[in-house]
Amino acid sequence: MKIIIVKNKIEGGKKALEIYRATLKSNARVLGFATGSTPLTTYQELIKSDLDFSQIISFNLDEYVGLQADDPQSYHHYMEENLFKFKKFKTSFLLNGVAVDEKAEIRHYDQLLEKYPIDLQLLGIGRNGHIGFNEPGSSFNERTHKVGLTESTIKANSRFFADEVQVPRYAYSMGIKSILAAKQILLEAYGSSKASAVLRMVQGPMTTACPASILQTHPNVTLILDEAAASQLS
Ligand code: F6R
Repeated sequence: MKIIIVKNKIEGGKKALEIYRATLKSNARVLGFATGSTPLTTYQELIKSDLDFSQIISFNLDEYVGLQADDPQSYHHYMEENLFKFKKFKTSFLLNGVAVDEKAEIRHYDQLLEKYPIDLQLLGIGRNGHIGFNEPGSSFNERTHKVGLTESTIKANSRFFADEVQVPRYAYSMGIKSILAAKQILLEAYGSSKASAVLRMVQGPMTTACPASILQTHPNVTLILDEAAASQLS
C-alpha cells in the first residue's frame, strides 16, 4: 500500500486530483465512486479541475434500499449534487434502491461491472473497518449483494437524516470481490475517529472482522490519510 499523509482533507482532495489526472492520462475509462463525507473535497477538486469526464463511465459502490433516486438522502442524489451536475459523464451506473426485482438488479449490476471493469475505485472507510457497505463479517468472496446495516453504521449515517429511525436498514453494495477487481484503489480517511480502522486495515491481520484489511492483498492501493487518521500507525 502506498500511503500519502496530508495535513487535512483539503490537501487530501488536491492529492486525489493528481491521482485522477494521472489515471485519466493513462487512458482510464471507468471510475468507481463513493459517497459520505470523506470524498467531498476530492469531488470539489474534480469539479474545479479541467478534467474531461465526458467519455468516462462511472459506477457507485452502494445505495440504500427503499430510497428513490431523487430522495435527498439517496446516494444517487448525493452524486448528482456533489459531482454529476457539475461534470458531464458518458454514463453513470448506480444501483436502483427501489428495484422491484432485487435479484435482477444485483445481477444486472454485476454484469455491467464485468463489461466495464473499473480502472480506479475511490473508497472511504467506516469506523468499524467497512468498505462500501461490507460490514465486519462480510465474505471476501461476494460481488454485489443486499446487506443489513450494523447498528454502528446506522448511528454514524444518522447524521445525514432527521433522526436515526429514518436511516434505511438495508443497502445494496458492491462486494469485496467487486472492489478488489478494480485495477487501482484510492482510499481516503480523515480524522481521529478513523485511526483505529486505519491501523487495522494497514497493519492488522487480514480478517473479515475488518473488511478493509483485505486491501493488503491488492497490488495497487493508495491511501490518502490526514495526520489524525494515520496517528496509530507505527
Ligand atoms: C459510501 C460508502 C461507505 C463510506 C464510509 C465512510 O459510499 O461506501 O463505506 O465510505 O461509511 O463514510 P464517511 O466518509 O461519511 O466517513
